[in-house]
Amino acid sequence: MRVELDVNGERLEADVWQGESLLFTLRERLGLPGSKNACEQGECGSCSVLLDGTLVCACLVLTAQAEGHEIVTVEGLAGDGELHPVQEAFVRTGAVQCGFCTPGLIMAAADLLARNPSPSDDELREALSGNLCRCTGYQKIFDAVRLAAEQA
Ligand code: FES
Ligand code: FES
Repeated sequence: MRVELDVNGERLEADVWQGESLLFTLRERLGLPGSKNACEQGECGSCSVLLDGTLVCACLVLTAQAEGHEIVTVEGLAGDGELHPVQEAFVRTGAVQCGFCTPGLIMAAADLLARNPSPSDDELREALSGNLCRCTGYQKIFDAVRLAAEQA
């Protein structure tokens, strides 16, 4: 089936199969590999995107359901050649190791700070609790989000 999707402010078209996930469509058909596929079961958060401003796991959304809704992926966070403040903070604090979890964590952190610019530590942990990282031990990730909050 042919779908039209609004992704990062652009109208894109793709031929997809009926049960195809939004994650598969973004990565394999639309050339947007930023959203990662680690579990494909809604467990790890590495595929997090915004759908009409709500953070979702793209692996759990059917592409057909996303038609007519606004999708923002990690590729759409940066504007005019500038990194998003959360992306900048991840770089500055060294919060990236293998990087597989990073796009999803950045999406979740950007979503948190858009809703709550000064989160408490508990709020920060709660907001990122759906995003798994195998490498960092999370401390530098939390440092990054705190830095982005301070600089906002
Ligand atoms: S790949 Fe979607 S939650 Fe893990
Ligand atoms: S940096 Fe490797 S999984 Fe998080």
